[in-house]
Amino acid sequence: MIKFIHTTKKFGDNVVHKDIDLHIERGKITFIIGPSGTGKSVFIKQIIGLIKPDTGSILFDGQDICAMDDSELLGVRRRVGLLFQNAALFDSMNVFDNVAFPLREHTEKTEAEIARIVHDKLRQVGLKNIDMAYPSELSGGMKKRVGLARAIALDPEVMLYDEPTTGLDPIMTDVVDSLIVSMQRTLNSTSVVISHDIKTTLEVADNIIMIYAGEVVARGTPKEFQASENPIVRQFFSGSWEGPISVY
Ligand SMILES: Nc1ncnc2c1ncn2[C@@H]1O[C@H](COP(=O)(O)OP(=O)(O)O)[C@@H](O)[C@H]1O
Ligand SMILES: [Mg+2]
Repeated sequence: MIKFIHTTKKFGDNVVHKDIDLHIERGKITFIIGPSGTGKSVFIKQIIGLIKPDTGSILFDGQDICAMDDSELLGVRRRVGLLFQNAALFDSMNVFDNVAFPLREHTEKTEAEIARIVHDKLRQVGLKNIDMAYPSELSGGMKKRVGLARAIALDPEVMLYDEPTTGLDPIMTDVVDSLIVSMQRTLNSTSVVISHDIKTTLEVADNIIMIYAGEVVARGTPKEFQASENPIVRQFFSGSWEGPISVY
């Protein structure tokens, strides 16, 4: 579904991606892991064309993202659902209007159709009777669910999650994990999840790609990662500070 072909990216002297070469399989949940500052968020932004690589190319469903004009990029973005760390709800809009936003923005649907879809999506993330609530009245976990309902409003083919469970307690983490899996099943989409959470990664991922020092250093299934003898992988999974990953 998504291919990075030897991409590089630097910001000034800061070389973030030295050589990223990977593909994201259609219909699977792929986790991207690696220490902070290795360009994982940059990677997500590149998938939707918010940041361009310096060299190399990125294919989205076979089409080169880097060669697209604004209207073509908009076409890609409509096929993608995004959930960032701080759910990024519109504080001035109630829950209903937050979830309805992409439908009003990108479709010609009637308000009646929109209401049906909004309630269907809220139900899918386990929420009801909160249409009129404002984000400031919601817990962190509820905000995350509303953000997810909004992200799936247009039935995206690709879901991108940037650290969806960071800052959540263990119970909410489990809830979000199972939502990622159930979204995947109901939408039959392709999911890319950036995570620091080792337990989540092993439980939810079909495939794992590890990025370290600007390059892909390992890829495989959770089973293969658990059995890996790669010292960088081992250190990440043990969460230890000693080993090849340098700590600043
Ligand atoms: N728009 C930008 N301009 C300049 N530097 C950036 C920009 N976006 C990210 N960076 C830098 O790129 C590096 C990787 O950032 P990021 O992708 O956020 O890392 P990660 O998500 O893996 O923690 C960081 O050093 C960050 O400061
Ligand atoms: Mg990040």
